[in-house]
Formats: sequence, structure tokens, C-alpha cells
Amino acid sequence: MILNFGSINIDNVYQVSRFPGAGETISAKSLEKILGGKGINQTIAVQRAGAAIFHVGHVGKDEWIFDQLSKMEVDKKFIYSCAGVTGHAIIYVDDLGENKIVIHAGANEQFKSKQCDEILEQFKLEKPWVILQNEINLSLEVAIKAKELGFKVCYSAAPFSSECVNKILPYVDLLAMNETEMKELQNTSSKNLADFNVAMTLVTLGSRGAELYIQGEVIKQTSFDIKPVDTTGAGDTFLGSFIARYDCGESVQSALQYASGAAAIQITRMGAAPAIPTYNQVQEFLNVNT
Ligand code: RIB
Repeated sequence: MILNFGSINIDNVYQVSRFPGAGETISAKSLEKILGGKGINQTIAVQRAGAAIFHVGHVGKDEWIFDQLSKMEVDKKFIYSCAGVTGHAIIYVDDLGENKIVIHAGANEQFKSKQCDEILEQFKLEKPWVILQNEINLSLEVAIKAKELGFKVCYSAAPFSSECVNKILPYVDLLAMNETEMKELQNTSSKNLADFNVAMTLVTLGSRGAELYIQGEVIKQTSFDIKPVDTTGAGDTFLGSFIARYDCGESVQSALQYASGAAAIQITRMGAAPAIPTYNQVQEFLNVNT
């Protein structure tokens, strides 16, 4: 069982031949409105990988988002509609599938302490994994309460803030970062990963795969040789898939391989959340490619 206190965004995705320089205006080839946000991307990856999850999130009074969540079969029990705008992202995707993203938090910063505490209390017998990212308010508070209740905490240090990550780390069991975030963490703290004393650290390395630091060991996972269409949400897909398969009782090696297959498929499709493959699609891919 997994609980994700996470962001939900409207991704406005502009396809461009190349990124504009400072002060430059360019024309986009297309514009699409797609469900995204690191939180909900991870939730959908968990769900499609076959694990049980509840998403706790806030959006504006926004029918489009609720329709999208229904299409993705997300349980809406803990999705709250509040005053203000739904969180959103402006995303440029270039011809190489790389992206540049600017987010506006909007309703993702409407989490309230009492509400989070009450939700956590409801799950105190199951002791689920709690997933958090740096796109909502109260991540630190939720992590502290979750640990008090004996839950395990997974934290994505994105968007990166050294202040936030350093405060939350003592409560984290699985820290997830990309390579840039890991370098920033090491530079700003002058420490090595081992010094942080986190049970598991997952570092995604894009086309070079991923590494899992666990009990003084490094487990390496190679990536599949795929030409990307859009890499937005690949890290979220990897993390959600990994934690889901691990929570279902698979070994870390097997969960890493599944996650790598899921991310490989996800980057061949446009957009973040809807591009995440199902369990069967990943298994078919792995059968052919491993
Ligand atoms: O990780 C990708 C996500 O980052 C996008 O879906 C966007 O909404 C931002 O949160």
C-alpha cells in the first residue's frame, strides 16, 4: 500500500524545433494540454505497475482535471478542489525529446496540517510507503508525522532545494534524484551519498540508466537503447514503477529492471502521465528486449 501526497499539474506542452535563447522569440510546432505534475505522474506509474495507491492532492475548481483523473482511473477520494488555480507547467519539448519546464504551484500549496494528519492516521495499521516531492507545501511535516507512525518515506528532491532536502533527509527511507540534483546535493552539503545515512538512494541517469545505493552497495541498472520523443516524466515513471514493484515484494534488481522498461516505453510517447505504460505493456517489452 502506498500513499502519495503529491502535485497535480496541467502541463501546457509546446513542441519546438529547438529551445529559444534569452530574448529570442520562436514559434511552437504544436501545443497540447496534458495531465502532469511529479506527484500524479508517480501515482499513475505506481498504479499501472500493479500496486495499490491513494493520491492526496489539491486542484482548482477544474472539471478537466477531474475528467483526466477519471480516465487514468485515479481514486479521487483524497483529491480536493479548492479556490485558486490548478498547478500548471509550461513545458518546451525539442526535436531530441529533451525538455525545459517552469511550474506554478497554484493549488499544490493548499495542503493543510489537520487534513494530512487525519489521512495519515487512517492508514496507521497498514503502515504504507508515503511518497513526497518538493512540489507541494508541508512535505516536511507529512514526512515527520509519517515516520512517527512507523511508515516508510520516499522523497523526490525535485524541484531541487538544498534547504528542503537537508531538513527532510532524517525522515527519508528512499531518496530519489536525477544526476543534476545529486551533484547539487553533494556540492551544497560537501558530503558523499553514504554520509546522508538514507536506507536507499535512487539516482536516475537518463540514457545511462540508474543506480541504487543500498546498504553500502551500488546496484546499477542499464537503460534500453531507445530514441526519445519526449522525456518529460521519465524520472517519475521510473520511481513510481520501482517503488510499486518493490512494494509488491520483488527484489530491488527486478524492480529496477521493470522501472527501466517502463521509463523506456514512456519516453517514446508525448506527455507525462498518459504516456506511462501498463504492467502488461512493460512485461511484453521486457520479454522482447532482455
Ligand atoms: O517530472 C515531470 C513533471 O514536472 C511534469 O509533468 C510537470 O508538471 C512538472 O511537475
